[in-house]
Amino acid sequence: MEERTFICDNISVNEDGHLCFAGRDVLTLAAEYKTPLYLFDEKKIRENMRRYKNAFAKYYPGTARISYASKACAFKQMYRIAAEEGIGIDTVSCGEIYTAASAGFPLENAFFHGNAKTDEDIAYACGAGTGYFVADNTEELIALEAEAERLGITQKILLRITPGIDPHTYEAVSTGKVDSKFGNAIETGAAEEIVRLALSMQHIALCGYHCHVGSQVFGEDVFERAAEKMLDFAADIREKTGYVPEILNLGGGIGVRYVSSDPEVDFDGIIQRLCSRIVTCCEKSGLPLPEFIMEPGRSIAADAGMTLYTLSSVKKIEGFRNYAAVDGGMTDNPRYALYGSSYTVYAAGRMNEKTEEKFTVAGRCCESGDIIQKDVPLPSGIARGDILAVCTTGAYNYSMASNYNRIGRPAVVFVNEGGSYIAVKRETLADLAALDC
Ligand SMILES: Cc1ncc(COP(=O)(O)O)c(C=O)c1O
Repeated sequence: MEERTFICDNISVNEDGHLCFAGRDVLTLAAEYKTPLYLFDEKKIRENMRRYKNAFAKYYPGTARISYASKACAFKQMYRIAAEEGIGIDTVSCGEIYTAASAGFPLENAFFHGNAKTDEDIAYACGAGTGYFVADNTEELIALEAEAERLGITQKILLRITPGIDPHTYEAVSTGKVDSKFGNAIETGAAEEIVRLALSMQHIALCGYHCHVGSQVFGEDVFERAAEKMLDFAADIREKTGYVPEILNLGGGIGVRYVSSDPEVDFDGIIQRLCSRIVTCCEKSGLPLPEFIMEPGRSIAADAGMTLYTLSSVKKIEGFRNYAAVDGGMTDNPRYALYGSSYTVYAAGRMNEKTEEKFTVAGRCCESGDIIQKDVPLPSGIARGDILAVCTTGAYNYSMASNYNRIGRPAVVFVNEGGSYIAVKRETLADLAALDC
């Protein structure tokens, strides 16, 4: 029989013609936990984390570590897994820091990002013992210096630098260009100015530089170019001030395949070339090899996730389009509405049927833009009650979910070798009104 390939290697079909995720029949999971449902493959998350650790050990001659960008998917179980795997985390709010701390994550391994940290954020994160601030702007540095002085501590920081690299990805997730709300551009002199300011402060220890050029990056040499720009900048600053960074954090951004037309990612090749570019740049400038950090989010969580929906209605508008409406939508996955993101969709109980018609998978919200994916091939017989599976939803789905239309967030269920367990409960009607006075 012809070998079938799926968008992720943790997807298969069983003898009943049902879709399986991490070896489990998703129809059984849908029946047990109800839909909409976020599924996570625990083994895959751990493998994705280890893939970075192993590649760094193989290709980087200095110290290197990974820091999971928890904005991709943040709830206690993700932080527990990160702690168990011995990796750091990147956080962007007190909510993420609080959740991580409640899960027992050691905050000395946490980085606190953000371009608009409030005084309350700074006080909370400093007081909680967050390892590093990734300081974004002058106002933040001044507020942080004052808070660190008040607490009688020295706060470690990295400075967010904008290297001026266009990663050629969606505009909304492109962050490394000079025209960005994040960081300090090398090109305009802002980066040098903020380094000088940080170095002049008594209660701040500048540990190095950070940049993040964008997300869902497939460009072959984007990370290498960013590394080179950052190390040229580091060499220039050493020349001018004598300051040598201990850490170079190049952010996240490695792309993930959502549909078969997305390019294959040569993960090892990217890391190998990046590591050797850092080494070459350091040799050229005489800078000592920095501790190298990457903070991936999507490439840790995306293919470890899948969302299940129950089909509510099928509407065929002759000469126009077919719609398949489901019991979730932009509230649990706003990415198509935001960026027109691509997804692979399967009719989970009809995996052996031909997919000869196209359907636009629409959500249940009062919003025409509430679409999960346009024109996906599905079997023409799909009907109310069928389970639709949307693949690669582990990143920026749960974490971007909302209660628009007062719809509760789905449960999050983890699948592992021992079975399955609930990591986040489904929001109830009472939860939705719980904070109303
Ligand atoms: C500063 C920073 N680091 C890391 C990431 C993670 O990127 P990705 O999920 O593409 O790996 C992001 C996401 O945009 C980010 O803004």
